[in-house]
Amino acid sequence: MNPREHIPVLLEESLALLDIGRDGIYIDGTLGLAGHAEEILKRNPRARLVGIDLDDRSIRKAQARLQPFEDRVDLYHADFKCIPELDIDFPAVRGILLDLGMSSYQLDTADRGFGHSQEGPLDMRMDDRNKLTAAKILDKYPEPKLAQLFREYGELKQAAKLARKIASVRRTQKIESTTHLRGLVEEVCHWIPQRGKIHPAAKVFQALRIEVNQELQGLGEFLIEAIGLVGPGTRLAVISFHSLEDRIVKHTLARLSRPEYGDSVIDILTKHPVVPSEDEVARNPRSRSAKLRAAVKRPHGS
Ligand SMILES: C[S@@+](CC[C@H](N)C(=O)[O-])C[C@H]1O[C@@H](n2cnc3c(N)ncnc32)[C@H](O)[C@@H]1O
Repeated sequence: MNPREHIPVLLEESLALLDIGRDGIYIDGTLGLAGHAEEILKRNPRARLVGIDLDDRSIRKAQARLQPFEDRVDLYHADFKCIPELDIDFPAVRGILLDLGMSSYQLDTADRGFGHSQEGPLDMRMDDRNKLTAAKILDKYPEPKLAQLFREYGELKQAAKLARKIASVRRTQKIESTTHLRGLVEEVCHWIPQRGKIHPAAKVFQALRIEVNQELQGLGEFLIEAIGLVGPGTRLAVISFHSLEDRIVKHTLARLSRPEYGDSVIDILTKHPVVPSEDEVARNPRSRSAKLRAAVKRPHGS
């Protein structure tokens, strides 16, 4: 595999927080190209790995990479939010990793439509069984809903103006390509490239990707359910890449750590989120917005 297809983010920090030296099962709910998963299997010859990803193409690449460990690996093409329905021996689970968002492999594959800098269809589905695409959203969502999407998921200042522009353009032509949308964003936002400034299309593409893949829906509920299923001592590590996701993780873990919560309580292992070192950001600029939070399930009744 070409190592540049995706460089695992916060690798050492996340594996240390998961405490991967223990015997048992580790679940990687966002397997991607198996960067984290491969290290778990290499470093602990008694670890078993359950790998899950919404993206079939990534699963196939990960499967090839993990072939040397195949007798210790189970892979599922699924949403990690379905973990409770999978045939997993939950009491044997020692760690759950979520490295949210998308991989560089997905971002750089033009025909997926995730990136605004290359020509491609406005698709953005991680799971090709999904019926909703970014193009359908731009075609069908009412203008106020588009504005809300760009404002809430993209934190775009010109959200209403962009929604108005899209509503006007789509009366005469379909908006179906990444570069068409990027052009509209540049026009509405009067974009002039400046060092260190994020291209506004990155915000718009983020908003559409979150909506297409329903990335925020059910994340907090999933964390609560997963902690309820596993045994004491099991660790959870979550890497997020934007503030909306990080906020859900932070608040859910805080809620589960409060004594009044009941049976499924945790201790938080990261008082402050772990962020990449300057060195990591220099090696892998895409790691710059990563935040890692981790927790451990407490023994019953403690
Ligand atoms: C940042 S990448 C993971 C990279 C991986 N840790 C590695 O080092 O190769 C995120 C992956 O999670 C997948 N993904 C995102 N949301 C998901 C979900 N709800 N369920 C399953 N997979 C998901 C994406 O398809 C993508 O492959």
